[in-house]
Amino acid sequence: MTTTVSNDYSALLPSVREFLSKPQQLLIGGAWIDAADGKTFDTINPATEEVLAQVAQGSAQDVDKAVAAARTAFEDGSPWSRMTPRERSHLMWRIGDLIDEHAEELAQLESLDNGKRVVSAHGDVGVAAELFRYFAGWATKMEGTSIPMSVPGRDFHAYTRREPIGVVAGIVPWNFPLTMACFKIVPAITAGNTVVLKPAEQTPLTALRLGQLLLDAGLPAGVVNVVTGFGDTGAALVEHHGVDKVAFTGSTEVGKKIAAAAAGNLKKVSLELGGKAPNIIFADADIDAAIAGAVLGGYFNEGQCCVNGSRLYVQRSVFDQVIEGVAAAAKAFTVGDGFNSASDMGPLVSQEQHDKVLGYIRGALHDGATINAGGPDAPFSKGYFVQPTLITGVTESMAIQTDEIFGPVITAIPFDTEDEVVQAANNTVYGLAAGVWSQNIGTAHRVGARLRAGTVWLNTWHADDVTLPRGGYKQSGWGRELGSFGLDDYTELKTVIAELR
Ligand code: NAI
Ligand code: MG
Repeated sequence: MTTTVSNDYSALLPSVREFLSKPQQLLIGGAWIDAADGKTFDTINPATEEVLAQVAQGSAQDVDKAVAAARTAFEDGSPWSRMTPRERSHLMWRIGDLIDEHAEELAQLESLDNGKRVVSAHGDVGVAAELFRYFAGWATKMEGTSIPMSVPGRDFHAYTRREPIGVVAGIVPWNFPLTMACFKIVPAITAGNTVVLKPAEQTPLTALRLGQLLLDAGLPAGVVNVVTGFGDTGAALVEHHGVDKVAFTGSTEVGKKIAAAAAGNLKKVSLELGGKAPNIIFADADIDAAIAGAVLGGYFNEGQCCVNGSRLYVQRSVFDQVIEGVAAAAKAFTVGDGFNSASDMGPLVSQEQHDKVLGYIRGALHDGATINAGGPDAPFSKGYFVQPTLITGVTESMAIQTDEIFGPVITAIPFDTEDEVVQAANNTVYGLAAGVWSQNIGTAHRVGARLRAGTVWLNTWHADDVTLPRGGYKQSGWGRELGSFGLDDYTELKTVIAELR
């Protein structure tokens, strides 16, 4: 059984207490305002189930205002449109530094709102700052090409330009609230777009704090607007004809709704959706490294990560050894409040997510699977905690094996041959990530090439950089984020043809 620790808020910063003491408003056109109808909702600390703060609940009317503010900020002649790429670059670098200066405050807010450990939230804040600095470099490098034409007897100069698309709606989930907000805001503003951000209803706080930091850094009013609310607020944005592009991260189910709703004005859509990543361990792997990788891949971020390696496949001769190792590691976790530095794993984000994950674990037991570590028993009477869980004796058709669980749950199945495991690994509607462990360089690269996923890790898991593109095959999404590739999705490509007379 995993050990547990209790709440400890002695390290809470005065600035965080002050932020939480005030009702949080919408950021529209550079001003903080209440929702037009005055509605608010509560955001909850998932470790204690207590209300953290009241947050404005944006309606379609507020979305309309925010889109109008973003349009005004985008238009020809606006302060934003007149900024040179170099000025944009310097501004973005300043924002990155400002995020670093507020790292402890942002990490505490993130931990309270999402449940994740403060040390993990610090990692997320670091990524957010680095995103601004990495893309700051691209602002001055949005280059076109000159392209030869062959028209007999006439001279032309033809070239391409990368231009912003316009108003971008960023709709983001709760698993990495600040980082996901930055995944949408940063490439959008690098290319000169303006943004309306809709944070997840479970975790609105760090996006709101970021909104103020953007203003403090000197980002012109209306370039980034933040409208908090639920799915209907997001839907109003997706349907709005003043929005030119939607960038969404979240469930495949909502991704499909967004693709359909965007058809009204054929706005551009990029989608980063669910996953069910296979993690394949061959008998010739470095078994200790593979076990550690399986544990990190399965339980990182309380299992609430779209690229987690939730389906473990282990070659039969080392199956028992790997299961023993992963089960021992799972049992050694200390589960508790993310604010207590003794915790290795915090609560899940919400009652809904907690109940969904436990439902899958109970379902697997009912279907005849075996629990090797963890299970459905609650470690505390309060809070949305789930024990890190390892399940064997599953079949490919069980719900626990086919569905995205989004909790600290790994299922494991033995395999014999490479062909068999590649077939099983690819037998999913998802295609976000996959991994292979083998010390045979041929096996690792060959199997990696055969896996239908946007990211493949060989002898590692969760190794990452803001320089690398990411995204999904199949129903895991449309488009790629980050790296130089990620910018293309936030630009229109214009071809200019001049006749030289
Ligand atoms: P969700 O996809 O419903 O929510 C993500 C965001 O979309 C939130 O900001 C939400 O308010 C917004 N949204 C909801 N309905 C919308 C609509 N019709 N139009 C526009 N925006 C809308 O995800 P949810 O319900 O929080 O989690 C459900 C499951 O989705 C999880 O259990 C997990 O399996 C998966 N998920 C995957 C994520 C990923 O990173 N790929 C992130 C979060 C959840
Ligand atoms: Mg939902």
